[in-house]
Amino acid sequence: MSTIMLVNSSEIEMKLMQKSLEKDYSLIPMSNAKQALGRLAKASVVPEMMVIDLEHAGPGGGFSLLSSVKMHEKLKGIKVVLLSADKEGATEMEGYRLGASEVVFKPINASILKRRIDIQMEMLSNKRQLDNYVSQLQKNVTFHAQNSLRLEYFLIGMITDLLSKKDGFTGTHCVSVSRYMGILLQDILMSGINYGIPSEDYEIIVLSAQLHDMGKMGVPDSVLMKEGKYTDEEFRAMKNHPVYAADAIQKYSYLLPDNKFVIYMYQMARYHHERWDGNGYPDRLAGYNIPVLARILAVADVYDALTANRSYKQAKTHEHACTILLQGAGTQFDPAVVQSFQRSHMLFYNMARQIQEQQAQQAAQIQAAPSLMTQSQQMTRQYGGGTRQ
Ligand SMILES: [Fe+2]
Ligand SMILES: [Fe+2]
Repeated sequence: MSTIMLVNSSEIEMKLMQKSLEKDYSLIPMSNAKQALGRLAKASVVPEMMVIDLEHAGPGGGFSLLSSVKMHEKLKGIKVVLLSADKEGATEMEGYRLGASEVVFKPINASILKRRIDIQMEMLSNKRQLDNYVSQLQKNVTFHAQNSLRLEYFLIGMITDLLSKKDGFTGTHCVSVSRYMGILLQDILMSGINYGIPSEDYEIIVLSAQLHDMGKMGVPDSVLMKEGKYTDEEFRAMKNHPVYAADAIQKYSYLLPDNKFVIYMYQMARYHHERWDGNGYPDRLAGYNIPVLARILAVADVYDALTANRSYKQAKTHEHACTILLQGAGTQFDPAVVQSFQRSHMLFYNMARQIQEQQAQQAAQIQAAPSLMTQSQQMTRQYGGGTRQ
């Protein structure tokens, strides 16, 4: 039940109002403005409405009380209905100017006053419902957006982890390539040339770059983990990995139609081994027919392949890797992307150092994370036999 504070020193009018309103509202009768303000100052929950008699509000008058209410942070949301014997337009206008919602003229007609109050209360209730709905909607949108991105991080983290179980180097490589992709992408977005890459998609592009080699899960272990040069047959088996990944993404893409994350993932997974001169694989695309994200990723991919340590080969220095990439401009790589690499190569160098440090930190965090097996066992002990609702 909504609460109304009645401020009126006239006992007759107070009784009349109480009789008309007490069935539907909880009433707080106050005989003057000072008493009303004292009560409101102490209240932890304020009434929804005040009915203030302009002529019978005691010292200071009704306008002064109205102003005090509307200027007070805690009280300004209270709806105020003014009662006035003065039917001059100036008094009525002053009431509205100071924040009153309604001005009702005296002598009091109990039925009309009740109806006016009911209407104001209905409006207040509708506004509160709408505010709650909007606030809930905003919370839901924020929650789903955050959860959706976190879910992507979660799934990609898991897939990368599984991949690294099969081949530790590939897992590390995927994370590193995604970071290098971020550097190139930032440079390209800032270059002023429009490649049609929306800057707001930066995060999901960098994230999906991490999955570019997930097709390697379909490559036989004997090939994937071979140390040393591949035979022709082994190389053919390895060259299937972009198609394996693309097929898996295609297979489930009906669940997320027109999803940019899925399309970016597909482009990078399928086309990152295409070459600018058309001699790459699997589709032998050339030049601008290769999706731009795959052209960018190709440079990031090769930089990491050259500079990362492997048990079977010596890592090349940053300078040596730069020379190889520059030589590949226009044959293996999009020349514009190589230019971007030239502009940002020192960031690559620093990132490589940073990745090494972060990998050490992450290993420590993984060690310190609470055991899911323990949490699972606790949950099973608590609810395993079912609980009554
Ligand atoms: Fe690859
Ligand atoms: Fe790769």
